[in-house]
Amino acid sequence: MRWILCLLLAAACGSKRSSPSKATAEDLAKALPPRTLRAVDPAPVDPRDYQRAKWNPIHFRPAIDTATDQQCLTCHREVLEPSVRATSPAGVAAAASLAWYQTLSTYQGDQDTFHRRHLVTPYAQSVMQLRCTTCHQGSDPRDENGASSATAQPGLTLRKMVAPEICQMCHGSFPYQSMGVPGPWSEFGSAFNNNCLTCHAAIRTVRHRVNYLKAAEIERLAATNSDVCYGCHGGRAWYRTPFPYPRHLWPGAPTAVPPWATGRATESAARFLAPAPSDAPTHPSPATP
Ligand code: HEC
Ligand code: HEC
Ligand code: HEC
Ligand code: HEC
Ligand code: HEC
Repeated sequence: MRWILCLLLAAACGSKRSSPSKATAEDLAKALPPRTLRAVDPAPVDPRDYQRAKWNPIHFRPAIDTATDQQCLTCHREVLEPSVRATSPAGVAAAASLAWYQTLSTYQGDQDTFHRRHLVTPYAQSVMQLRCTTCHQGSDPRDENGASSATAQPGLTLRKMVAPEICQMCHGSFPYQSMGVPGPWSEFGSAFNNNCLTCHAAIRTVRHRVNYLKAAEIERLAATNSDVCYGCHGGRAWYRTPFPYPRHLWPGAPTAVPPWATGRATESAARFLAPAPSDAPTHPSPATP
């Protein structure tokens, strides 16, 4: 009985194989992955389909430019949900191992993950409003190289998921050389009452007008604690060089541009001026303390 069935099936397969293919080139083109990611709708896919999710066009331009945190978090809740272990596997307590940069007075609460420190901890929420796409502008999961194939998004930083210049904006060194401050803030801050606003109440006052910072709250907190300013301008410097900030003209600015500032932009980067993608923030601001 069984072998008769097998024979019948084989015959059916054989006859199918021998029939001429009706697929046209157009059909084939439709079945192929799209040549360019531009035309693809970044509609949510089933997050359990790993390959489709990994190559979801939301990871690339142009879709990433308008992606909301909500969309990213549909699949990536893991970046915000777990925190760090209370003790390392070897038994070292996280609470007992503070790094030098965790001793600035603005650092509060238990140790936490990188993403949580920038997105959900109370201090982060009071001075910043970072989005996934403030830092993530695309990355090629195949080889982390934006120039290795015709379909890759050009302009990506080689072997990086985030362009380091973005980190440098808040983690560059303290540019005392352009300020008339004689040396590092840790040595000479006391000569200025440890207060950046000694000068910055009147100098470069047009600042922080970007969609990922809370300008008014920064000034309010900095009025009583200069570690707020220093925290983003040298206090947590992962880079030996300062970021070349745009130089907005401010009321009362001298007309001559100092030599170090020649060629500087006079406005913040366009993508930071646009209103952030229009969803309600996934991490709403806490009531002001
Ligand atoms: C449909 C689900 C889905 C959505 C939506 C999604 N991702 Fe992903 N993403 C994935 C999967 C799956 C991977 C592969 C993870 C792995 O290999 O570990 C991935 C990988 C990544 C990676 C690592 C890439 C690498 O080079 O290894 C980053 C960074 C990332 N996603 C950021 C984002 C951001 C930012 C958004 C929103 C703009 C987003 N993702 C939206 C599913 C998604
Ligand atoms: C302050 C900048 C910044 C913000 C904001 C940010 N990320 Fe990341 N993200 C990073 C960096 C840096 C890495 C590590 C990159 C590497 O290893 O090359 C990373 C890694 C990742 C990865 C890879 C997996 C992993 O854990 O290493 C995913 C997925 C990811 N981010 C998703 C998100 C999502 C979703 C959001 C928004 C909720 C977000 N990120 C917000 C900077 C940021
Ligand atoms: C808009 C400003 C801003 C940007 C952009 C930014 N950071 Fe930060 N970063 C901060 C602030 C503020 C803190 C301190 C948070 C606190 O003390 O609670 C911090 C803290 C950190 C810490 C210490 C975390 C800890 O638990 O002690 C690391 C590491 C770090 N940032 C790395 C990065 C990297 C890497 C990037 C780029 C992918 C980046 N940051 C981009 C503002 C920024
Ligand atoms: C002695 C006065 C003085 C003090 C104190 C001072 N600054 Fe400045 N700062 C200046 C001057 C002057 C400039 C350059 C103005 C210009 O653009 O012509 C400047 C520029 C800057 C810039 C822009 C640099 C650039 O490359 O565009 C930043 C950021 C900055 N200051 C942050 C701080 C912070 C943070 C503190 C405290 C930790 C501080 N300053 C303390 C006088 C001061
Ligand atoms: C959370 C991080 C953060 C804090 C806190 C912070 N800054 Fe900034 N600051 C930045 C970033 C990022 C930029 C660049 C914004 C842009 O591209 O326009 C910037 C730009 C500046 C500039 C250049 C202004 C210009 O011409 O555009 C000055 C000056 C400056 N900050 C001084 C200060 C002072 C003074 C304080 C305290 C009152 C302070 N910052 C607090 C992140 C921070």
